Amino acid sequence: MAASSALRKAPPHHCQGPSASPASPWVLWILLLTLVFLPSTSSNTCGEPPTFENMSPAGDMKSSYNVGERVEYECNPGYSHRPSLPKFITCQENQQWSQISNDTCYKKSCPRQAEPSNSRVNVVNGSYEYGSQIEYVCNVGYHLIGERILYCQLSNSDVQWSGSPPKCEKITCASPPQIPNAEYSGVGTDSFEYNAVVIYTCIPGSGPDEFSLIGESELYCIGPGKWSSDPPKCKVVKCPIPTVTNGRLVSGSATKYGYNKTVQLECNPGLYLHGSNLSTCGENSTWQPPIPSCLKEPPSPTKSPPNLRPSVSMPSGPAPSSARPLISRIFQYTSLFEGPFDLRDILGWIVALIITMLGLS
Ligand SMILES: *[C@@H]1O[C@H](CO)[C@@H](O)[C@H](O)[C@H]1NC(C)=O
Ligand SMILES: *[C@@H]1O[C@H](CO)[C@@H](O)[C@H](O)[C@H]1NC(C)=O
Ligand SMILES: *[C@@H]1O[C@H](CO)[C@@H](O)[C@H](O)[C@H]1NC(C)=O
Ligand SMILES: *[C@@H]1O[C@H](CO)[C@@H](O)[C@H](O)[C@H]1NC(C)=O
Ligand SMILES: *[C@@H]1O[C@H](CO)[C@@H](O)[C@H](O)[C@H]1NC(C)=O
Repeated sequence: MAASSALRKAPPHHCQGPSASPASPWVLWILLLTLVFLPSTSSNTCGEPPTFENMSPAGDMKSSYNVGERVEYECNPGYSHRPSLPKFITCQENQQWSQISNDTCYKKSCPRQAEPSNSRVNVVNGSYEYGSQIEYVCNVGYHLIGERILYCQLSNSDVQWSGSPPKCEKITCASPPQIPNAEYSGVGTDSFEYNAVVIYTCIPGSGPDEFSLIGESELYCIGPGKWSSDPPKCKVVKCPIPTVTNGRLVSGSATKYGYNKTVQLECNPGLYLHGSNLSTCGENSTWQPPIPSCLKEPPSPTKSPPNLRPSVSMPSGPAPSSARPLISRIFQYTSLFEGPFDLRDILGWIVALIITMLGLS
């Protein structure tokens, strides 16, 4: 290093003017030689020894070491020494440290973990080495209690798992709730296994009207104490006879309108339908959407969500001036953007704008 800096200083001396005296080349050569050899003879040392992720020089480091001096390394916490490889470096004649393999210290491993019953261990990083992790996965029908992921980490001077292995417990569900006017399969069972199904049915009605089942009739045990959905409801659903003044039922005509019954309606010729031409009997015995009406006036244009058109249709403008959409897009962006605005975006657009204008001219 010292030699090269000396050489770098040399070139200016080579540019001798024509007026230089005959003696000057000698003076210059001597000067050059002293510059080259002085530093190397005066500082016969190595600099700080290199550091590694897995090992560090033992003891305090010095800023320079004499040729022949030796520096011992020690493995960093979490690493072990590979006895076959030397653990030191030497300051060589050329003022360079001798090589040391970065493999000298290898990662310690955490103890192999037995798979708890009803689970398997996922060796996430392919090893049990320091810094790696393992994940516990319960078998289907079991759920995990404890830490799902354990890390191989430092524990004093050694490595150890970050916690104790979790447990996998069988998933069970308690009986789902009873509901009025219904019965379900498996009544009397206290505990249902994972994926067990319970089927609700409405009991026959006592009066002229039957109960309708509203919701899911089948419930599955999907997690610890968790059913796939809420239980259904059984209730009498009876919607009023759908009548539409100046209109008629196109389809769905019946004597009784029970749950989920759908009717289609239309207006007499010349009249306008206000509402939907389809309506379904809902769980609360009302028509959903409500039965429409037939009027002489056409319905007002359907209300759509807040009109975002202007901002969406920006780039549709004709091509002749390609700079315009850019401007309007900048404008659009600034007005739509909420919160802290990134100035870089606008600068980017301005640059794009200038480039476009240069390209046009
Ligand atoms: C060791 O050195 C090799 C080659 O320079 C490099 O690919 C590797 O990542 C290093 N290993 C460590 C643990 O630093
Ligand atoms: C182990 O694997 C996980 C998931 O791929 C990754 O996030 C993590 O950085 C890896 N750790 C090591 C030490 O390689
Ligand atoms: C309601 O009726 C539709 C069509 O008739 C049917 O697909 C749907 O399963 C019914 N829903 C219920 C909850 O009975
Ligand atoms: C009535 O509903 C059907 C089905 O949704 C639709 O295809 C038809 O265009 C509607 N008729 C009128 C007049 O709105
Ligand atoms: C029926 O009534 C119940 C209770 O008033 C309400 O929570 C539910 O949203 C209603 N359902 C419909 C489809 O209107």
